Amino acid sequence: MRTLSAQDLTAALPIIEGTAMRNVCLEYTPAWTGVSVPAWTDMAVDSHGLNDSQRQDLADVLPYLACGEASAVHAFSGRLSQQLPLAARAILSAIAQDEMGHALWIEALQKTLPPPQRPPQAARLLMFFRRLESAQPAEHLAHVAALDRAVCQLLHPMLRRGGVISQAPDLHRALCALRQDEARHVRMSRAMAQQLGMSAGRQALLNQSIGARLLGLLQPVRPALARLSLGHRAASWREAA
Ligand SMILES: [Fe+2]
Ligand SMILES: [Fe+2]
Repeated sequence: MRTLSAQDLTAALPIIEGTAMRNVCLEYTPAWTGVSVPAWTDMAVDSHGLNDSQRQDLADVLPYLACGEASAVHAFSGRLSQQLPLAARAILSAIAQDEMGHALWIEALQKTLPPPQRPPQAARLLMFFRRLESAQPAEHLAHVAALDRAVCQLLHPMLRRGGVISQAPDLHRALCALRQDEARHVRMSRAMAQQLGMSAGRQALLNQSIGARLLGLLQPVRPALARLSLGHRAASWREAA
């Protein structure tokens, strides 16, 4: 088992640009400058407990998650932050550090897995994340809240007890921590958006539309996601059949 240390994270900072390139989010990297090393340091990087095909499924899904993290760092440490009052900037900076921790952990995990079989299309990913941006801070925050909410919903069936991923305890623990962080980000960014005038009705609409767009983006890896969301007994029967 390998864990990420603070030293690993510091050493990994120059690698981030490479990570982002592999994850087709290169243009987001400049905004990462100045984001300090996060506290997400002692998380194990280990998928022990998954079989080879489940490790491949995970490898196919991770580039999408990684690009989401890069996009979130960009959102929380870039132009959006500069448009907000100082108190709000501190909250955004803390979220950006979480996202950096997630991104680095995913990068480390990817190195332990096979390469993705179907890497995501750069143009589709960039278009998806660009459309999350908005000149209006309330709208931008609401978009990010909607995306994080959709990611939590996506992770929920994958992380249930007795599921495939629960057979890999270190991976399960890390993804549960990531989901917990995302749920906190949803609450914080939604509250900030509301304070800036975002209505509950508009937020609900955005939740729906961005959730649907995320499902569309993930279309190429939906079979992999479905397999990773199976109960581990069902997965074993399927493998044996
Ligand atoms: Fe994240
Ligand atoms: Fe987040």
